[in-house]
Amino acid sequence: MKVTEDINQIRQIRWTDPMASWGFVPTMGYLHEGHLSLVRRAKAENERTAVSIYVNPTQFAPHEDLSSYPRDLARDLALLEVEGVNLVFTPSDAVMYPPGFQTMVTVAELSRPLEGSSRPTHFQGVATIVAKLFHIIQPTRAYFGQKDAQQAVVLRQMVRDLNFNVEMVICPIVREADGLALSSRNKYLTPEQRQAATVLSRALNRAKNAYANGERDGRILRRIMRETITAEPLARLDYVSAADPATLQELKEVKEGVLLSTAVFFGKTRLIDNILIV
Ligand code: PAJ
Repeated sequence: MKVTEDINQIRQIRWTDPMASWGFVPTMGYLHEGHLSLVRRAKAENERTAVSIYVNPTQFAPHEDLSSYPRDLARDLALLEVEGVNLVFTPSDAVMYPPGFQTMVTVAELSRPLEGSSRPTHFQGVATIVAKLFHIIQPTRAYFGQKDAQQAVVLRQMVRDLNFNVEMVICPIVREADGLALSSRNKYLTPEQRQAATVLSRALNRAKNAYANGERDGRILRRIMRETITAEPLARLDYVSAADPATLQELKEVKEGVLLSTAVFFGKTRLIDNILIV
């Protein structure tokens, strides 16, 4: 496994065997089974696998958790070695954003609702770094988690709009036994908050069950989620949503599919989760 922060070295390794297919998994590190599920899928579907580990400052707002974001590069590299990854890109800020950097990628409409309403500059940072990573790695396929549902939708649009020659693969959410979606940020939770955090998946599942029983009114699906979450004293609701999975606009009436999603604070920690019904 080659580990480097040097873009020229990445390009050299990438093009030693130009006919090989490369699967690529971009991450911010502090890897868990959710990340590793993407790595395994990439490995199964490609001849070579590349992973990037980079906590991208442009996707964090000034008041967010950039400085406290958990990091453990040695542990991450050991995990990736076990998975048989070929190449790990671990750039520094100086490599990714050298002095004078000024070009950003904006996916206009899809970045605005949901996460965008709470984090207005977030997806510009995500789209910019992923565009840069795609140019550096030039993967055949790139692997993202459904955990970040809007991120997947925004990046698919970017790939279409900017003609990236990359196949986007979106992988299912990996959860703890009690339903909590795996996230690097779960580490911030106190034991009490950790227990309370099951409220996200409980709320989503209650709405999903209502849907299964024939409920198609978006307002009622949102109310079911809202009531479940506000009943949890340690939870502070950011949003609940029952949206069109393609446009991310809130639905009055569910006709084809629906993306049920929510963001909830526990103290300063903000968690997101979703269930996609198609
Ligand atoms: P990060 O939060 O590290 O996540 C990296 C990838 O792992 C994302 O595609 C995310 O959706 C996926 N992932 C996280 N938790 C998961 C889970 N429980 N199950 C399945 N997949 C999961 O997302 C980012 O980093 C960044 O925004 C990035 C795309 C790397 C750009 O900086």
